[in-house]
Amino acid sequence: MKRAPTFSQLTDAYLFQEVLDRANIFQKKHPHVEILSLGVGDTTEPLIPQVTERLTTFSSAMGERKTYRGYGPEQGLVELRKEIASVLYNNRYSHDEIFISDGAKCDISRLIQLLTYNGSVAIQDPTYPCYVEISALCAQASITYLTGIPDLSQAPRSSLIFLCNPNNPTGTAFTYEQLETMVNTARERKQLIMIDVAYRSFIQDDLPRSIYEIPGADQVAIEIGSFSKMAGFSSVRLGWTVVPHALVYDDGSSVHEDVLRLYNSLFNGAPILSQEAAIAALSPNGRKALQKQTESYLQRTRQLREALTPRFPSVQGGTHCPYLWVRTEQTSSWEAFDYFLEKAHLIVMPGIGFGPGGEGFVRVSGFPRQEIIDKACRNIETL
Ligand code: MLT
Repeated sequence: MKRAPTFSQLTDAYLFQEVLDRANIFQKKHPHVEILSLGVGDTTEPLIPQVTERLTTFSSAMGERKTYRGYGPEQGLVELRKEIASVLYNNRYSHDEIFISDGAKCDISRLIQLLTYNGSVAIQDPTYPCYVEISALCAQASITYLTGIPDLSQAPRSSLIFLCNPNNPTGTAFTYEQLETMVNTARERKQLIMIDVAYRSFIQDDLPRSIYEIPGADQVAIEIGSFSKMAGFSSVRLGWTVVPHALVYDDGSSVHEDVLRLYNSLFNGAPILSQEAAIAALSPNGRKALQKQTESYLQRTRQLREALTPRFPSVQGGTHCPYLWVRTEQTSSWEAFDYFLEKAHLIVMPGIGFGPGGEGFVRVSGFPRQEIIDKACRNIETL
């Protein structure tokens, strides 16, 4: 069997693995150094009690003949889809337009099948690297980068556009006007927007939390959400995707029907335990408890910003997402990565890993535990 050419076009390792490998090499050379990670954005607060109680009760029920359940509906439990429609979308969509997935990344790998083979993809730059990797690996797509606030008129007509809001890694969120311009351009140029809203629960002020707050977005956009950051489900695994009925191909046929087909053919549904847990997370008490977690991650991010600001010319983000985007003196962001590791024993993410627009920057995560943040701030002060 011959190797698919797309694999050899990618970098040697996925960004997060590369960072880990380099940190391990440093640790081996300096075994007594305590390395602190502000790198991968993973949640550190425990699951909320509403979730653990539901998981415990449901696990016991699965151990009883009378209450055991086998395969669930591929599209997800109706109760959960109704909760998402009501709590997150104010019933703008029916549960039928919501698909439950095992996480945003897995779902994007399925949804990319909607793209014509060798089709074109345009990607916000910098942004989460999985959109580039999946487009190249699964669709052999040609990729256009849209640096800064994405101008969709620079993307090919009929292309698939990846957006992330709030954006990982820059921590910024689109305004209503910015999203409106993108939606209008996409409608005019017959582009399909796939927008990842994994960090939507961190958005402050009255900025839009969903692209569907923009009139006409249901005709051009698929929205992909995740419980990983919102409810600490990065190991529990659960996400959702909205595919409005109003979204149709150029010939008027339904995108929703094709997504349903993809789900039926490629997927047997998300784990039922995780779906039950998500129902508990969306309950009124669950949401209150999650709000506190969100605030504590943002508070840690503010603490990091205070430590970084006197030392670095520009520290952005951190308000709508627990990531800081830091301009460094180094022109190469891998050099900046080495600088943080060697001088402050901190792992940060090199900006270039998020796209060409990330060169010279590093991303700093506010997700680590409070004691790590405290120590990290002390290390930053030595720089
Ligand atoms: C990140 O650090 O950007 C992400 O949290 C990692 C992921 O979600 O895969």
